[in-house]
Amino acid sequence: MSEKQHKAEHRNRPTGEAFMAFMRDGWAPRTGSLPELTEAARYAAARREVLAATFPGERLVVPAGGLKIRSNDTDYVFRPHSAFAHLTGLGADREPDAVLVLDPLPEGRHRATLYFAPLADRDSPDFFTDSRVGEFWVGARPTLDSASAELGLTTRHLAELDDAVAKDVGPSGLAVRVVREADREVAGIVDRIRTQAGLASTEAVEASAQADAELSRALSTQRLVKDDWEVRQMEEAVQSTATAFDAVVEQLPEAVRRGRGERWIEGVFGLHARHTGNGVGYDSICAAGDHATTLHWIRNTGEVHEGDLLLLDAGVETDSLYTADVTRTVPVSGTFTEVQRRVYDAVLEAQEAGLAAARPGNRFQDVHAAAIEVIARHLLDWGLLPEGITLEQTLDAQEGQFHRRWMVHGTSHHLGIDVHDCAQALREDYVEGELREGMVLTVEPGLYFKADDLLVPEELRGIGVRIEDDVVITADGARNLSAMLPRTADEVEAWVQGGGRRG
Ligand code: GLY
Ligand code: MN
Ligand code: MN
Repeated sequence: MSEKQHKAEHRNRPTGEAFMAFMRDGWAPRTGSLPELTEAARYAAARREVLAATFPGERLVVPAGGLKIRSNDTDYVFRPHSAFAHLTGLGADREPDAVLVLDPLPEGRHRATLYFAPLADRDSPDFFTDSRVGEFWVGARPTLDSASAELGLTTRHLAELDDAVAKDVGPSGLAVRVVREADREVAGIVDRIRTQAGLASTEAVEASAQADAELSRALSTQRLVKDDWEVRQMEEAVQSTATAFDAVVEQLPEAVRRGRGERWIEGVFGLHARHTGNGVGYDSICAAGDHATTLHWIRNTGEVHEGDLLLLDAGVETDSLYTADVTRTVPVSGTFTEVQRRVYDAVLEAQEAGLAAARPGNRFQDVHAAAIEVIARHLLDWGLLPEGITLEQTLDAQEGQFHRRWMVHGTSHHLGIDVHDCAQALREDYVEGELREGMVLTVEPGLYFKADDLLVPEELRGIGVRIEDDVVITADGARNLSAMLPRTADEVEAWVQGGGRRG
């Protein structure tokens, strides 16, 4: 067999000049009008100023990341790295392989340049042959001019990136930092530039890795406090999420009737998420019965039965990439059993305590402390903690914590572009940090009694309850962004009985 016959190439790629001309010509001229500067871009410019002031005189490289292969020639939907989205205002699907570079200017400010692969000309074969960037395959891409107008920054072709990043870098020249985890190829380019500039010793490589990590941490920390535009994105995400929750509740009878009801619920939520926003901000947890005791149950393969509680933990992500993260636990029949309600009310009381602790001046960890004390007290009252243990003893961080058997997770996390936002911020800024106006966090206590837990009475086994809301810290407290969704046991019952209509 010849070499040629061995090739696994299944597409015809004609190259005849007559064919190329035929593909190239006969298209209406493109309109010349440029887009307006977006509101998102105006806020992003202010964020870049804050970042640049943190690293004066240095070159900062923030990649969007590239497409990820799903299987052979099929990619996942593109989602830019969160730091890139935050600093450009670009959202869903934009822009694979793009790189934002902040260059220091003499007067202490920075110039922002976006490097990306712009729209291919119609006389380039890419126009119809390239399934990743060709207009025939993925639609029109921005031009350098249109992206510049939309984002309010300088734009350059991606081919110019290497030289631009390398310029003046050296031991006695300019320092460069890169968000390594955003794009390994771009990190590789920066590493090569450093090596060529003489920064190749073990100490220099370690110092560079440290410098890059500091940049990533600074970007994560900077997102702890949301600006007005971001709070509006969160409001939109939560509003869409509430609509999708209503639709799920309306569909509960259908989920029971069809079988494999958890998947039906996942689909209904996903339909609304995809319709009103970019999609789900994380895989939806659609957990009926004992599945609700598995914290990240995303297989969603189970049945939904009349007598079950359904725990739905789901959030819509906006086109701007901000996600809600909300949980409601509802009785599928419309009525809690006495024991289900007892567990539900304990979790609700814990959540109320957590919500009350979410205010400026308190520390982030105070929210958990307030909620977990209520959880621990109920477990103690129900006689579930080890014999002779006091509330103080179980709350002891080192020697206690027995209550964690039934709520092993934290009560809160920051929320924003990432569902677990700001994850690289230092403990002193995050867990031990003071709550400040503009922070957005979840308050989400739960209780989970596994079906095979022999330490609890049989009536509790197979019951999992979590209640999760998203709050923004205000000047003197917190505003519950998801307060429009029913929360007390009575409200939840009325919601289910009303087929997803809120009272
Ligand atoms: N949805 C994951 C969480 O609540 O943190
Ligand atoms: Mn959640
Ligand atoms: Mn959460």
